[in-house]
Amino acid sequence: MSRMIINGGVPLSGSVTVQGAKNSVLPIMAAAVLTGGKTVIHNCPRISDVECSLRILDHLGCVARWEGDGVYIDTGTMTGSTIPDDLMGDLRSSVIFMGAVLARTGRVRFSPPGGCEIGPRPIDLHLEAMKRLGASAVSDKGSIICRADRLHGAVIELRFPSVGATENAMIAAAGCCELTVIKNAAAEPEISDLAEYLRKAGASVTGDGTGTIEIRGGRFEKSVVHEIIPDRIVTATYLAATAATGGHVRVEGTRPDHLGAVLEALSRMGCEVETGNGTIVLDAGRGLVSPGVVVTGPYPRFPTDAQPLLMAACLKARGETVFEETVFENRFRHVPEMIRMGADISVKGHRAAVRGVNTLRGAEVSAGELRGCAALIAAALSADGESTVGGIKYLDRGYDGLCRGLRALGADIRRID
Ligand code: EPZ
Repeated sequence: MSRMIINGGVPLSGSVTVQGAKNSVLPIMAAAVLTGGKTVIHNCPRISDVECSLRILDHLGCVARWEGDGVYIDTGTMTGSTIPDDLMGDLRSSVIFMGAVLARTGRVRFSPPGGCEIGPRPIDLHLEAMKRLGASAVSDKGSIICRADRLHGAVIELRFPSVGATENAMIAAAGCCELTVIKNAAAEPEISDLAEYLRKAGASVTGDGTGTIEIRGGRFEKSVVHEIIPDRIVTATYLAATAATGGHVRVEGTRPDHLGAVLEALSRMGCEVETGNGTIVLDAGRGLVSPGVVVTGPYPRFPTDAQPLLMAACLKARGETVFEETVFENRFRHVPEMIRMGADISVKGHRAAVRGVNTLRGAEVSAGELRGCAALIAAALSADGESTVGGIKYLDRGYDGLCRGLRALGADIRRID
């Protein structure tokens, strides 16, 4: 099993440039199905989730390959409408192909998506949105088949601002020339990046980044070029690892405006944070204090994906930090592993209370999901002695070169495959 060997206790120091956003490139790769033409996406991270999406597009009969700093897709040759079970199981965001394939072909067959073990990950909001647009959905031998002779405009009111359901609704609605309004929509930066791609492709999209998005499809461009926004959670990973080790980092090629809640929490801990045009400089040289209570929630509230990462930075911060995880049901899987390093954490329901300790000791730990894996690496970097972090296949889903980036910041970390 792939694992990282880390000798901690060294403050990170230096500069690092951030990859393109995983949670932006995946829905845009699905949206490319709509155009029936060519899409070039720049600044794509080389991660297994993108590889999996290329294989789904290939299975559907499209041309899809890595090219230069991103991917080249031509969906003019598309013939299929079934997403194979093995590919659905590998990738939670495979469900994002639902709206695109349905709008393009009038049919889509898929099995419930896989993904990280951070909660049941239902797709009822996705299916409700498709039905509002005129589709039917039936179960068939463990798969779901959606059909729509013709999609029509609708008002879709989401019970929860689900990122994936918002994206599926946007993409399907862009395949219809009538007006669709999505209320209580997600407002994450990745939603705006998808909206920007859809506008370039020929759709009319307004209100992205607010709770109400209006979409009307149009004649699609036969060639679209798009550059992915920086990954805000990878940025948070480098900042948290630097805070955990009491170091100093300059993160380049990022969007400070996408990280308001994260930067605010790190400042509350006593980190000195300076932001510039595409850069964040963080200095955690002095002893850190607890940021108090951290409640996760839909953007622009504190991102659930950064919860494990900030927790790693709080393990040796003076005082008690209370994390309240309101988005996913099972997102404290990293806690028992951090306790093996000597962390003082108690979990009750959706709350985890972290009391700062003076030292952490290296240990053998194993990750169960993507961001928990990155958090265990950050914790190991702040521990004295050697740690082994297993479950690196989760890391490969979303991080392009994290080990390389941390070594550039002076970390003693190496990967054993
Ligand atoms: C996206 O997942 C991200 N993944 C997640 O990032 C991120 O944690 C999440 O949004 C929240 O920001 C991608 O974009 C590929 P949701 P998604 O639908 O769309 C419930 C990472 O680490 N829900 O906003 O699956 C759901 O159970 C990953 O990069 C329903 O009840 O998240 C959860 O409690 C992890 N019914 C809540 O909504 C539905 O139909 C938020 O889920 C859909 C969701």
